[in-house]
Amino acid sequence: MSATTSTEIEAQLSAVQQRATEEISAASSLDDLDKTRVRYLGKKGDLSKVLGGMGKLSAEERPQIGALANQAKTALQSQIEQRKSDLQTAQIEAQLAAETIDVTMPGVYQPQGHIHPINSIIDQVTDIFVGLGYTVAQSPEIESDYYNFEALNFLPDHPARDMQDTLYLPGGQLLRTHTSNTQIRYMENNQPPMRVLASGRCYRRDTVDATHAAVFHQLEFFAVDKGITFTDLRGTVKLFLEALFGDVEVRFRPSYFPFTEPSAEVDVRWQNQWLEVMGCGMIDPNVLNAVGCDAEVYSGFAAGLGVERLAMVQSKIDDIRRLYSSDLRFLRQF
Ligand code: DAH
Repeated sequence: MSATTSTEIEAQLSAVQQRATEEISAASSLDDLDKTRVRYLGKKGDLSKVLGGMGKLSAEERPQIGALANQAKTALQSQIEQRKSDLQTAQIEAQLAAETIDVTMPGVYQPQGHIHPINSIIDQVTDIFVGLGYTVAQSPEIESDYYNFEALNFLPDHPARDMQDTLYLPGGQLLRTHTSNTQIRYMENNQPPMRVLASGRCYRRDTVDATHAAVFHQLEFFAVDKGITFTDLRGTVKLFLEALFGDVEVRFRPSYFPFTEPSAEVDVRWQNQWLEVMGCGMIDPNVLNAVGCDAEVYSGFAAGLGVERLAMVQSKIDDIRRLYSSDLRFLRQF
């Protein structure tokens, strides 16, 4: 591009301007547009190249051509700005269109979890006893005869062992038949005063029917301190049952357990019937002595109850086996 006369330069200028105008309006992206700008208006761009020939023009011609060149430059700059804003608008519109939420689309099903009635009872009872200052404790399900029976004052060959059809494991261990093993394990490792709540699975070689399962859950609570009496047991049991069932009548019946003396069974008046809900009593001195707690100084009470029983009453479930079915139609009701 080595033009020498002003007419030639003028012609070249308008040719460059025309090409640039076409390319600007054809630029399909911001990136494309910027390349076009550099190609025509950049330091080494086509416009500069044309003006490079101005050196050979006369002093009168130079300002004329300079003015023309400035006009062309300003015109192209404003075309570029216009195209830039058009491209930006189009980009935003495309993005909006692509990201539009179709509110009529079907939703994704989110299955909702439910607390199982058994866990719900354990949670409710735990809340009540934690509120009374009880500690929550646990003990093993695979247990020795000592913790499940002997230390709880079940003498060898005592007929009381027949009350609980035990599942024995090879090697002499057994599956605990009740949560009362927690009493021994906790008292062995802690000093009175103590107030303890335990819960967990228990196992018995029962015939399975609507009210019996081979695997079931118990809750156990006990307290040991100086001067604890049967009145404390009664008050605690009544307060607990009222917290769970509302304002119910509570009845104590004399009973027998090897690890309590005296012992009682507790009924609540529920929908016009007496319903047996727990066994309890004053911890037998033999039990306290077995864990090295001086029964002359300390006394305590203990109680145990079946969780399934409470769940069945509270949720009006007629068959214990439903609690262990994985039928979601059943479970979703809670
Ligand atoms: N362990 C007894 C059972 O499984 C229930 C029980 C009765 C627990 C009296 C106690 C209690 O702590 O004092 O049948």
